[in-house]
Amino acid sequence: MLRREAHSQRGGTQGSPTSPLLLGSGNADGYLPHAGQSPAPAADVRLSETASMSGAKREHVQVLATEAVGPYTFLRLDRGELEPGTPGQFFMLEAPGRLLPRPMSVCLAPPGVLGFLIDPIGPGTRALCGLAPGDRLGVLGPLGKGFRLDVERPLLVGGGIGVAPFPYLSEMLGAPSALLGFRSSWHAEAAALVPNAEVVLEPTYVTELMPAGHDVLACGPEPMLEAVRRLTRHAQLAWEAPMACGYGACYGCAVEIDGVLRRLCVEGPVLETA
Ligand SMILES: Cc1cc2nc3c(=O)[nH]c(=O)nc-3n(C[C@H](O)[C@H](O)[C@H](O)COP(=O)(O)OP(=O)(O)OC[C@H]3O[C@@H](n4cnc5c(N)ncnc54)[C@H](O)[C@@H]3O)c2cc1C
Ligand code: FES
Repeated sequence: MLRREAHSQRGGTQGSPTSPLLLGSGNADGYLPHAGQSPAPAADVRLSETASMSGAKREHVQVLATEAVGPYTFLRLDRGELEPGTPGQFFMLEAPGRLLPRPMSVCLAPPGVLGFLIDPIGPGTRALCGLAPGDRLGVLGPLGKGFRLDVERPLLVGGGIGVAPFPYLSEMLGAPSALLGFRSSWHAEAAALVPNAEVVLEPTYVTELMPAGHDVLACGPEPMLEAVRRLTRHAQLAWEAPMACGYGACYGCAVEIDGVLRRLCVEGPVLETA
């Protein structure tokens, strides 16, 4: 519950999996967070770790530039040998002075560059936003499961910092329509990163304007994802949970789906409605 409240207040990059998902039979009451539990045998951890780490690398890379985008910071890193992965996948970024890395979605990936859009909501994100050109930081990724791109009528639906993975996603899908919601016109400056975007400002919500008949790919605060889930039968939703390792080893992101504990960093963060 605390996790859900914290996420809702800050607008969120991705929804919290404390809410019911529509995987399988999707029993809402049975879908509970179990952060910090480690119920699986070690063998299971090792197997899944290998799978989720497939293609991921850890590197120390250089900051090329930072740029303000409304209240957010666009952090441009030298990509080095890292692959950008699929839109919706994420990297663990080592924030200066913080013990644990912070998960961030790939926002843009032009040749040689990895770009992240960051909302400075706490010590880790503020430290990342305070980096300067020439600084170096440890980066691990790409991690997790991103959006499935073989969709016929894509519509991107996002809110707040939830737009972070959309510039890269839009590029991969050929600039489909996007419906983006923000709390103010200052926050809505981030919409400039997403082509073909219709912007909605509060108190209007994106879900009030969402047309039917699309393959919805959504990222944003939990209440928005919940509303999308209620309105569309088929959608890909990017959820969020606190993540300490990002590759299946710590169970910090574990949630229960249909009575089975699953790690969002391995099975998600993008999950499909049934
Ligand atoms: C897969 C994934 C991709 C993400 N992509 C982005 C991105 O592209 N851009 C971006 O700005 N942010 C992104 N986030 C969120 C970002 O990782 C967190 O905001 C960040 O880790 C917070 O660290 P902090 O030290 O600044 O704040 P903290 O002090 O750690 O957190 C501030 C508040 O937010 C809560 N919180 C922190 N992390 C989470 C979380 N993951 N879920 C729910 N509540 C949380 C804390 O409980 C606390 O109340 C992503 C998260 C995930 C899981
Ligand atoms: S298992 Fe460590 S963050 Fe998912």
